[in-house]
Amino acid sequence: MANPSLLILAGDGIGPEVMAEVKKIIGWMGAKRGVRFDVSEDLVGGCAYDAYGTPLTDATMARAQEVDAVLLGAVGGPKYDKLDFSVKPERGLLRLRKEMDLFSNLRPAQCFDALADFSSLKREVVAGLDIVIVRELTSGVYFGEPRGIFKEGNERVGINTQRYTESEIARVARSAFELARKRNNKVCSMEKANVMESGILWREVVQEVHDRDYRDVQLTHMYADAGAMQLCRWPKQFDVIVTDNLFGDLLSDMAAMLTGSLGMLPSASLGLPMANGRPKALYEPVHGSAPDIAGQGKANPIACILSFAMALRYSFDMGEEATRVEKAVETVLADGVRTADLMGPEGGTPVSTSQMGDAVLAALDASL
Ligand code: IPM
Ligand code: MG
Repeated sequence: MANPSLLILAGDGIGPEVMAEVKKIIGWMGAKRGVRFDVSEDLVGGCAYDAYGTPLTDATMARAQEVDAVLLGAVGGPKYDKLDFSVKPERGLLRLRKEMDLFSNLRPAQCFDALADFSSLKREVVAGLDIVIVRELTSGVYFGEPRGIFKEGNERVGINTQRYTESEIARVARSAFELARKRNNKVCSMEKANVMESGILWREVVQEVHDRDYRDVQLTHMYADAGAMQLCRWPKQFDVIVTDNLFGDLLSDMAAMLTGSLGMLPSASLGLPMANGRPKALYEPVHGSAPDIAGQGKANPIACILSFAMALRYSFDMGEEATRVEKAVETVLADGVRTADLMGPEGGTPVSTSQMGDAVLAALDASL
C-alpha cells in the first residue's frame, strides 16, 4: 500500500523555521518507527505571492485536496500589509479552509505542568488545564456576504456579515459532542444570543442536536463575553467549548496564553471524510508568522510539532505515535529546555528553534 501523503506548506515568517523541526520528526518516524509518509512541499501566503502573484495557486489548492493531510506553518508579514485584500497572505489560508470545507477546528489548550508558572495567571488556575475549543471555521463573519467597503453618501462604510445556516451549526455542534464523548463529556456553547440573531439560532440548533443525539453529554450555553471572563477566572470548569469562527479566533488566542505561551498551541482543522475514510484535514500551529523574530532561530517549534502529533492521531489513527510525540515534548519541558518565549522572569539562556527540535528528537529516542 502507498504511504500516506502529506503536503507541507511552511509559509512565511517563522513558518519555515518551525516546520524544519517537524520535518526532523517526520524523518525520525520513518527511520525509527517505520511510519513513512510521501511528503511534498509547496508555497502559501506571502512567499506564494512573491513567486506567483497569488497567495495560493490553483495547483497547490488541487494538491491540498488530494493529499491525506496538509501541514501548514504560518502566513503573513508586514511586507504584505499594503497588498490588495484579495491577494493578502491570509487569503491563501482562508481559501484552503473554505475549499477543503474544514468546518471543525480543534484548538486544544493544555497546560504542561512544567510551564504552569509561565502563565500570566496563578499556577492553581492553570495547572492541569486540558480543554479544547472547537471553532467553526468555514462560515460566519469571515465569509458572510455582503462584505466590502462601500460608498454611502459622502463617506465609506465597511460591511461584514455574520451568517450561519442550521446545517453549518449542526455539523460543528456534532463534532464537538463527539469529541466530548472521548473526553469528559461536557460541552459549553458560546455565542451572543443576547444581541445577535445568528447567536439565537446557534443556541437553538446546538440544543436541538444535543437533545436529539447527545443527551448523554452535558451541555451548557454561555454568552461569549462571559465565556472570555470565565476562561480567565476558572478555565478548568470547561472541557469542550464550541463556538463560531470569530469568537473562536479570539477565545483560542486567550486560551493559548493560559498555557504559558502562544508558541505551544497546535490545531487540527477537519472536514468531511474522503473516499479513503480519512477526514479532509489541515494541521497548523495557532501562533502566527511572528515577523519580529523570524529568521533568528528564536521561535518555539512546539506548537507545530504538536500539530503533527494531532495529524498522527486524527488523520492516521496512530494515537500511540501521537502520544509518543506529546510525551517527548512534555519530557523536554520538564527537563527545563526553553525557547525564548518560555523564559520566566528569572531569565536563563534560551535554546534555539533547532535545539528545541533536537531535544524532542532525543526524548523520542529515549522513548524506544
Ligand atoms: C488563526 C489566525 C487566522 C484567523 C488568520 C491568520 C487569518 O488568526 O488561525 O487564528 O483569523 O483565522
Ligand atoms: Mg487567530
